[in-house]
Amino acid sequence: MATDNTLIVYASRHGNVERCARELFNLIDGKVDICNLNNRESFPDASTYDSIIIGGSIYQGKIQKSVSEFCEMNLDVLTKKRLGLFICCLYSDERAERELKEAFPPALISSAMVSDYFGGVVDKSRLSFWEKIITRRMAASGELVSSISKEKIKEFAKKINPTDVSKK
Ligand SMILES: Cc1cc2nc3c(=O)[nH]c(=O)nc-3n(C[C@H](O)[C@H](O)[C@H](O)COP(=O)(O)O)c2cc1C
Repeated sequence: MATDNTLIVYASRHGNVERCARELFNLIDGKVDICNLNNRESFPDASTYDSIIIGGSIYQGKIQKSVSEFCEMNLDVLTKKRLGLFICCLYSDERAERELKEAFPPALISSAMVSDYFGGVVDKSRLSFWEKIITRRMAASGELVSSISKEKIKEFAKKINPTDVSKK
């Protein structure tokens, strides 16, 4: 089936998810719409797209509320689409896998064509007083990454692109 109509929806507090979403926007074939869920009064109509990519970032173990609401409101529609899910986060390996799994409803995790974590970045100069304290505690309690993986973004785009020959 040839599909060429993709919606990327995301939420981002300090711009990292937004950068990933824009990177994906440039890598996805066909017509692509991109939408910041935090800058809208209403959600886009997911039913009119062939493929949907949803991204958000993890703060104290949770993804943004706007992302959760979009997923819940469109659950039935989303399970029938070519679906890609991603998060930005500072943990890696098992902890990041767990954060990814808990960020989206189980029905979406199991129906997604691709889901991944891309890493994360903390720009200390943009953090509030409390955010600085929280991230300091996180750094003291475990190993954190401090980069976004362009390779993972490319791999993700390759998997969800309708023209990916490896899926034919
Ligand atoms: C206050 C605060 C809490 C955070 N909590 C978590 C967390 O629980 N787990 C995690 O993996 N990353 C956590 N992060 C890291 C963010 O997910 C990461 O910086 C991400 O790149 C932010 O993306 P954004 O700028 O698009 O919002 C936290 C960052 C801040 C500032």
